[in-house]
Amino acid sequence: MRSFTASPAAMLPLMLLQLAGQTGADVTCVPVPSPFPTYQQLPDQSTMPDPFLPLKYTTIDSEGFSAADVMAGKGQHRVQTREEWYKCRQPEILQMLQEYQYGYYPDHSQETVTATRSGNTVSISVTAGGKTGKFKATVTLPTGASASKPAPVVINIGGMQNAPYLSAGIAVVGFDYTSVAADSNSKTGAFWDVYKGRDIGVLTAWAWGFHRTLDGLNQTVPEIDSTRVGVTGCSRLGKGALAAGLFDERITVTMPMSSGVQGMGPYRYHAMSGQDETLENSKSGAGWWSDSKLGTFVNHAENLPYDAHTIGAAIAPRALIIDQGTGDQFTNSKATALVVYPAAKVVYDWLGVGDKIGMSVRSGAHCDMSGFTAVLPFVEKIFFNTTPTHDYNNLGTYGAPLTADYPWATAVPKAA
Ligand SMILES: *[C@@H]1O[C@H](CO)[C@@H](O)[C@H](O)[C@H]1NC(C)=O
Repeated sequence: MRSFTASPAAMLPLMLLQLAGQTGADVTCVPVPSPFPTYQQLPDQSTMPDPFLPLKYTTIDSEGFSAADVMAGKGQHRVQTREEWYKCRQPEILQMLQEYQYGYYPDHSQETVTATRSGNTVSISVTAGGKTGKFKATVTLPTGASASKPAPVVINIGGMQNAPYLSAGIAVVGFDYTSVAADSNSKTGAFWDVYKGRDIGVLTAWAWGFHRTLDGLNQTVPEIDSTRVGVTGCSRLGKGALAAGLFDERITVTMPMSSGVQGMGPYRYHAMSGQDETLENSKSGAGWWSDSKLGTFVNHAENLPYDAHTIGAAIAPRALIIDQGTGDQFTNSKATALVVYPAAKVVYDWLGVGDKIGMSVRSGAHCDMSGFTAVLPFVEKIFFNTTPTHDYNNLGTYGAPLTADYPWATAVPKAA
């Protein structure tokens, strides 16, 4: 897990548990399979996979379990405690997602990041292994932000609705994602200047851009509070923002907008909103978003041992607010709201942080800018501890969660 387990921030959940009197000494993790199983070695799961089940036991042949048992939460050696989740399962999910989808995030401890500021522009330079990549970020500060009263920040790619955030006292920072990694197979941009040749998806490269931007802000913009940080983007950039939230524990609130497959749209249940993304069409249309391993699951998406809810759950205990428009037929808003969100929330609830995940179901279309206003009260709650008037557990016109699509939720481990 390289930078994650090595960084002090990554140890935070465990340290908090230790402070609460639960020691980590007696937790033994089920080993992560090595090599990772291929799609042929994994059960075909037509419902959303059980997030509590270690990968080693996501199997139908070792002890006579059927795929139905695995899906229903009857698999063996499921995680039983929060401590086990943070010490064993969350790191396993991060590793599994890098293996099957994102590619392995570069080892940040091997990087040297330098930044300079000129007015509202921060120039960032990252050197590793004798290679250097450079890009710039643009800072917009809210009125009154100062080194003695620093503002929280939302870092975005692709543009967002700045005004309501600035009015709320939140800084907005953007960077040109194409200068970090082109949205193509060309492998150009700052990330590839350092890491060309690695089997890493462009979503991970964009995530790295968010993180190195935060490094640069921390070094040069004292008017920004680098401990209160949101990340956002829409559509493919929402997939990138999700990756940014997943791979760095400094991200306080992750805000994927209209993000679809490889974001908060499921690989399963992909036909619920008319025309939508699938593993197959996302790999054929933009194969560079992920590593090459994900391609081995094309036409076998139901053999993936995870789905979008697993990605969301791995972000806990940090905040996650998901935005989808009911007029968006492209990114399966309905399945995100009725299947992915409630399945991820089961884990957040179980971890005792159910108020840190929210679903914004709004009217409007794909990447409608109104999405940014729709999630703002949730973001303010996280940054300022205010009470939002909107109920982010209300799925609007979509109605109630489709609980049969994540059947393991009726067998959630008792001891938490
Ligand atoms: C900011 O930089 C300081 C000094 O290097 C470091 O201790 C701190 O962890 C950094 N904070 C963030 C949010 O990166």
